Amino acid sequence: MARAFAARLEHAAPSRLRESVGSAVETLHGLVAGLGLTPAELRASVAFLTDVGHHADDRRQEWVLLADVLGVSSLVEDLSAPRPAGATPNTVAGPFYRADAPDLPAGATISRDGKGEPLAVSGRVAALGGGPLAGAVVEVWQANGEGRYENQEPDRQPENNLRGRFRTDTQGRFAFRSVMPAGYALPADGPVGRLMAALGLALQRPAHLHFRVTANGHERLTTHVFDRDDPAIDGDAIFGVKPELKVEFRCTTAGRTVDVDFVLCPLRQG
Ligand code: BEZ
Ligand code: FE
Repeated sequence: MARAFAARLEHAAPSRLRESVGSAVETLHGLVAGLGLTPAELRASVAFLTDVGHHADDRRQEWVLLADVLGVSSLVEDLSAPRPAGATPNTVAGPFYRADAPDLPAGATISRDGKGEPLAVSGRVAALGGGPLAGAVVEVWQANGEGRYENQEPDRQPENNLRGRFRTDTQGRFAFRSVMPAGYALPADGPVGRLMAALGLALQRPAHLHFRVTANGHERLTTHVFDRDDPAIDGDAIFGVKPELKVEFRCTTAGRTVDVDFVLCPLRQG
């Protein structure tokens, strides 16, 4: 059957679409044959995918969630933005990024409601194999101490809570104050959550800060840093944790502190 489909495709003009559909159908036929899929299982699979579609709209994207928990989003990220050794790895931005975070001066707090355990963040931006990057734009966004983002609960958190945009100084440094983020679980109330529960898989993400760093002449970096002591550190539901992205959120008498370094890759041709 796979060969018959491939023969039909040969009539289509060569294109990336033809190549992708051909390859997907070949893999799908192999999967169906390998599993010996029954008609009832096909109906159940179609019902699941229909349900995913019913949970996808402007506010919620269950298809993206499915790609995330299957590791597809992280794989695409790794393939499309591979970074040489020494450069900070790229990760998905996720659904809570906002491009309009406010510009803030060095040292300012991004906590607009003051709720949570104080956290002091400092860091440096450098070029791969080079020196510090001055004037780089560092965007940050994070969940609060209950694991919720400002745009998930606009009635409970101030606009732009726990978001900001900073610039590095002449030594490539940046610093701001915040509160300790909590880890959180991805939505469990839809078909993806039910699938994960049926498989006994967790939806938990370890506590993290999100960053996007932009500097002239360099590839834009979108990444996270994760609390290495979070119990979920080795079980991130979306496979975003990489060894270089685990950091220590040190306990001090004044709260927590964390120091993060980002190494950007020069723009490459092609
Ligand atoms: C996040 O960390 O904000 C996130 C990323 C991918 C899927 C869901 C949440
Ligand atoms: Fe997040």
